[in-house]
Amino acid sequence: MKNLAILCSGFGSNLQAIINSVKKGKLKANIALVLSDKVDSYALVRAKKAGLLFVFASPDAFPDRESYDKYLVKKLKVSKIDYVLLAGFMRIVSPYFIDNFKNKIINIHPSLLPAFKGTKGIVDALNYGVKVTGVSVHFVNEQLDGGPIILQESIKVKDDDTAETLSVRVHKLEHKLYPQALKLLVAGNLTIKNRKVLIKTEK
Ligand code: GRF
Repeated sequence: MKNLAILCSGFGSNLQAIINSVKKGKLKANIALVLSDKVDSYALVRAKKAGLLFVFASPDAFPDRESYDKYLVKKLKVSKIDYVLLAGFMRIVSPYFIDNFKNKIINIHPSLLPAFKGTKGIVDALNYGVKVTGVSVHFVNEQLDGGPIILQESIKVKDDDTAETLSVRVHKLEHKLYPQALKLLVAGNLTIKNRKVLIKTEK
């Protein structure tokens, strides 16, 4: 079974969706480590409740991003992590980190990439006035929110949507799409060809 590490900074609702999927036996993988860069992240509470190994790693204890990332990589290697899942991890991972887990880092983003990259995907889409937005699960590379896309699904934006109402639908979709993408990943059904992710469908 593949060992997953889940990196979070905040509420951890995607972490919870992944935990639930593993518990139900839908996602056959082992959540070997939950790591947060924020001491008060609710994700840590969720990990504790689920009986998972969790750790708070403070970036303040390190002089720069690279030394923090070196520490993270060391921790992940000790836990024999196969895949690193970013789930609301509010940091840009360094090239050093990416090189150590090449095509093994996955992220979820609350827009239809390449539109509305960055930390405000939902609000930016709403303010732009798009009629359709959505969710993307993608591999992480050196470009911000720019790696090969694994799965995407769309959501219609309503005229009376606010950031709150739209967020509810985006998050609901995220909680479905992330475990779905991970299922394909751990089953070895994803191949990256240039920018494209080819999905092997089960017969
Ligand atoms: C999600 O919207 C995700 O797409 C983005 O950060 C948010 C994390 O939410 N990268 P949560 O902590 O999983 O609830």
